[in-house]
Amino acid sequence: MVDQQAELSWTEDRIPVSDRFDDPYFSLENGLAETRHVFLAGNSLPERFRPGFHIAELGFGTGLNMLTAWAAWEGAGMTGPLLFTSFEAYPMAPGDMARALAAFPELAPWVERFLPAWTGARCDLGTLQLDVVQGDARQTLPEWTGRADAWFLDGFSPAKNPELWQKDLLTHVANRTAPGGTVATYTAAGFVRRGLEAAGFAVTRVPGYGRKRHMTQGVRP
Ligand SMILES: C[S@@+](CC[C@H](N)C(=O)[O-])C[C@H]1O[C@@H](n2cnc3c(N)ncnc32)[C@H](O)[C@@H]1O
Repeated sequence: MVDQQAELSWTEDRIPVSDRFDDPYFSLENGLAETRHVFLAGNSLPERFRPGFHIAELGFGTGLNMLTAWAAWEGAGMTGPLLFTSFEAYPMAPGDMARALAAFPELAPWVERFLPAWTGARCDLGTLQLDVVQGDARQTLPEWTGRADAWFLDGFSPAKNPELWQKDLLTHVANRTAPGGTVATYTAAGFVRRGLEAAGFAVTRVPGYGRKRHMTQGVRP
C-alpha cells in the first residue's frame, strides 16, 4: 500500500531521514561502523556464527544491518545460508535503498547481488535467506514461529518510535530467542533496559558508538 511506504528526506544528500518519525535511518557519523559496533560486536558476531545461525531484526529500513551481517557471514567463511528475518511496517522503495546504500562502497559487492533480487518480502541468495515480515511488529512478531540466535533492535529512537520498544514487544522478542541467544541495541534508554530485564534478559550497559556513551546488550539465560 502506497500510504504505508516510507517517506523520506535526505541530509547532506545521502542519509535518509524518515518524515513520519523525524529520525535518520542510521548514524550521521558512520552508519557502517556503527552497525558493526552495535549489532555485530554487540551480539558477539562474527565469533558466534555457526551453520543455521538466525538473526532477527526490528526495523529493516535500508537493509544496511542485513548487508553488513551477510558480508561478515561470508567474510567468516560460512558457505551455508545465514537466516535473517526482519520486521518492517513501512518498507522503503528499492530506489531509496540504493541511494542510501551508495554511501557504503565497501558493501557494494553485496548490494549489487541483493537489490536486483529484492522483491520486498523474501529472497534466497545462497549464503543468505532473507525474510522481511511486513506490517506492524506489534502484530506480526507475536504470530512469528521462528527463533533467533541474535536480535538487532533497531527502531527509531525510543522517544520518537516508542511502539517498537514497549515491554510487551520485548517479551515477544525474548520468547522468540534461543536459549543463550542475545539482543543488542544502540540505545541505553532506561525503560528499554528495564523492559528487556522484565522479559528475562540479563542486561548489560556497554560503551556505545561515536558520541553515544552507552548501548545495551542482553543474553537470554
Ligand atoms: C532506524 S530504522 C532501521 C534501520 C535499518 N535497520 C537499516 O539497516 O537501515 C527503524 C525502522 O523501523 C521501522 N518501524 C517503525 N515502527 C515500526 C513498527 N511498529 N513495526 C515495524 N517496523 C517499524 C521503520 O519503518 C524503520 O524502517
